Amino acid sequence: MKKLRTTDFRKMKEQGEKIAMITAYDSTIAAIVDAAGVDVILVGDSLGNVVQGLENTLSVTLDEMIYHTKIVSRGMARAHLCSDMPFLSYQKSPEDAVESAGRLLKEGQAESVKLEINDAYVDTVYRIQKAGIPVVAHIGLCPQSVHIMGGYKIQGGLPGESEKLVDLARSCEQAGAFMVVIESVLSTVAKDITESVKVPTVGIGSGAFCDGQVLVVNDMIGLTPGPFPRFVKKYAKVADTISNSTRKYVEDVKKGKFPLKEHSYE
Ligand code: KIV
Repeated sequence: MKKLRTTDFRKMKEQGEKIAMITAYDSTIAAIVDAAGVDVILVGDSLGNVVQGLENTLSVTLDEMIYHTKIVSRGMARAHLCSDMPFLSYQKSPEDAVESAGRLLKEGQAESVKLEINDAYVDTVYRIQKAGIPVVAHIGLCPQSVHIMGGYKIQGGLPGESEKLVDLARSCEQAGAFMVVIESVLSTVAKDITESVKVPTVGIGSGAFCDGQVLVVNDMIGLTPGPFPRFVKKYAKVADTISNSTRKYVEDVKKGKFPLKEHSYE
């Protein structure tokens, strides 16, 4: 089984092979999704929402991202491992950003880092990748800017927004980003972006024209309760499976039906 490297993704775009990315936060899920054939595992700062039960991603710390990246890395064999840079781990200065990104590689075993980008952080992308750290640029809806945006809003529909997003993606490519994640952008705009850069684009809520797709694993397997944005496709009902099996377990314990002889040491 060939381990995927950053350089493979550009070839996949050139050959028209779509990239499948999914989030993971622990080694058990990482091992399952890796064996099932995902190309990139992202330790997203969505960790805050889906694992820590927070309202948004702003409180997630660099130490928490390092811990979850490290445990995810132990479950993987083939996929590329990308880790999110959490809020305030790269905004203060490019030097600080290089330090934080370096810790995700050195301590977390990440193979690349992802940053939420606006014009102000293109130079930071350049500085991080010059330090030898591969960068994924996250554009469009940037959840760490939720309070500035006034909520989670679809991007690319206002006058001039589409051109700005295309320019931003191009600047990120020139600064050395090897991949661009496009979140909640009109699909026509995501198509323009995808056609304007040589590096692959991976969309979430940004339509079918991107070079790949990413979903939050807990949403994709039906573990999070919802409600979900319309772009989420639920492939399973894992919350129901856990709930039903736990009810059965509780009933068995209460009625003395578990453990039986075969579950005991004699
Ligand atoms: O944090 C995350 O999981 C993400 C993806 C949704 C792209 O940034």
